[in-house]
Amino acid sequence: MWATARVAPTKITTIKKGGVIPMAVKKYKMFVDGKWVSSHTKETWDVINPANGKVIAQVPLADEEDTRNAVMAARRAFDKGPWRKISQVERGKLLFALARAIRDHAEEFAQLETQNTGKPIREARADISDAADCFEFYGGLADKINGDIVPVPDPNIFAMVIREPVGVVGQIIPWNYPLLMAAWKLAPALATGNCCVLKPAEITPLTALDLCKLIKEVGFPDGVVNVINGLGPVAGMELAKNEYVDKIAFTGSTEVGKQLMIAASGNVKKISLELGGKSPMIVFDDVDLPVAAEWVQFGIFVNQGEVCSATSRLYVQDKIHDRFVEELSTKAKKVRVGNPMDEATEMGPIASEKQLKKVLHYIDLGKKEGAEIAYGGQRLEKGKFKKGFYVTPTVFTNAKNNMKIVQDEIFGPVLTVIKFSDEEEAVELANATRYGLAGGVFTKDINRAFRIVKELRAGIIWVNSSQPCFNQLPWGGYKQSGIGRELGKYAVEEYTQLKQVTINLNEGPLGWYSG
Ligand code: NAI
Ligand code: MG
Repeated sequence: MWATARVAPTKITTIKKGGVIPMAVKKYKMFVDGKWVSSHTKETWDVINPANGKVIAQVPLADEEDTRNAVMAARRAFDKGPWRKISQVERGKLLFALARAIRDHAEEFAQLETQNTGKPIREARADISDAADCFEFYGGLADKINGDIVPVPDPNIFAMVIREPVGVVGQIIPWNYPLLMAAWKLAPALATGNCCVLKPAEITPLTALDLCKLIKEVGFPDGVVNVINGLGPVAGMELAKNEYVDKIAFTGSTEVGKQLMIAASGNVKKISLELGGKSPMIVFDDVDLPVAAEWVQFGIFVNQGEVCSATSRLYVQDKIHDRFVEELSTKAKKVRVGNPMDEATEMGPIASEKQLKKVLHYIDLGKKEGAEIAYGGQRLEKGKFKKGFYVTPTVFTNAKNNMKIVQDEIFGPVLTVIKFSDEEEAVELANATRYGLAGGVFTKDINRAFRIVKELRAGIIWVNSSQPCFNQLPWGGYKQSGIGRELGKYAVEEYTQLKQVTINLNEGPLGWYSG
């Protein structure tokens, strides 16, 4: 949505823990080279609260030129600035200071995130805490990244491998976990000594912009972190094409990921992609049924199902299929959908009208394809839901593996259930997808669980749970769910490059070597 008109400030009431604070429509600037800037065209973008469709903020909209300016700021900070000369220990300390500052402002971040994304406030609080944890993890890791001394056959050669930053990284993130995704991108990049240009999703830029205040406050040098707002095909694409960018890191749709790979080939950029998913969950008939059903519901309804790793395809063993669907429907009915600022709310609105339309389109398509709705399947728009982008949690039964609702990423609270009879069939159905981000299995049989772990072709496997995510572990997908891994020590690979150095200890003439 383009908007150049100024919007009169409206009063928006937020529920503050222990009080109520009024908020006006806020005008934001972008953060480039340590300064707050507008776009050179003065173009702006209206940021919407999906719970009521109201404008809550305006941000500048960067075009290619604004993006290039941010890239050059990062370039200067990397090539000429102090950043490369700051020790790893100091970089770690800055990351710890940033984490501390996030915690000091945790409630403000959580409220802002909820108003911008529609996620329940209690989930937003968890996200903010996770973001701080991520900066701490990489703060701790920063001074533990080292190269190697490597023995080679020639005793007179002293050989080593140095690990160096890639340089300037362009980072493009989605709207489902805005501050957390900013943390996943910035923390490992900074720990390893890179300079960043981060582009949040156009619809959810606010917490990343507020983070820049803290980045400045704790003392990161100018230009080390730049945050620009802009449309994907404009600002995002410029990052991918720009010859002064050394690496692209992206989280979002598989379709855009493919375009970025092509654009990034211009100057042979390093690239990491965390793309879509359609992750399977296999439930065997030996499980504690209500417990498994609770995890399954969490795995698809958390964050309104707008989760790359959502376990959106459920395979249930025939003997318990009907009872399991009944239990799921009962649970889905009890999910408290409502104003995400309400402490009790468990599911808020979908993050944008565009995404709501996509979810409703797939619900319609599912019915046309012949699946049956066991629960939900409607938009909520009356009374307290008026003007918000709400939809009910939805469970489809009688789905077939080749249906679009089973093969396409819906990115909403829509679960498809399919029956299977034995282990072999379950694995075959689960693996029949172009995606490979995550997968899960519920069973009490440990041998069977391990067999499934080995058989599933995905980067993340959960046994008797769904969605736990830890900073220490690699995050990323097989197949069309992406390349590279985020988090843990594994992300260090994505943000560094290796330099081999050989030192000739032999004082003699060249002749010694050719022999
Ligand atoms: P998207 O992939 O278009 O957007 C994600 C980010 O990429 C945003 O920052 C956007 O500005 C940027 N972008 C979009 N087009 C671009 C381009 N041509 N060049 C460079 N950057 C570009 O996702 P969108 O349209 O918001 O959602 C569509 C679908 O993508 C969702 O329904 C969902 O299936 C999937 N998705 C997956 C996510 C994940 O976590 N894996 C996150 C968000 C969306
Ligand atoms: Mg898109």
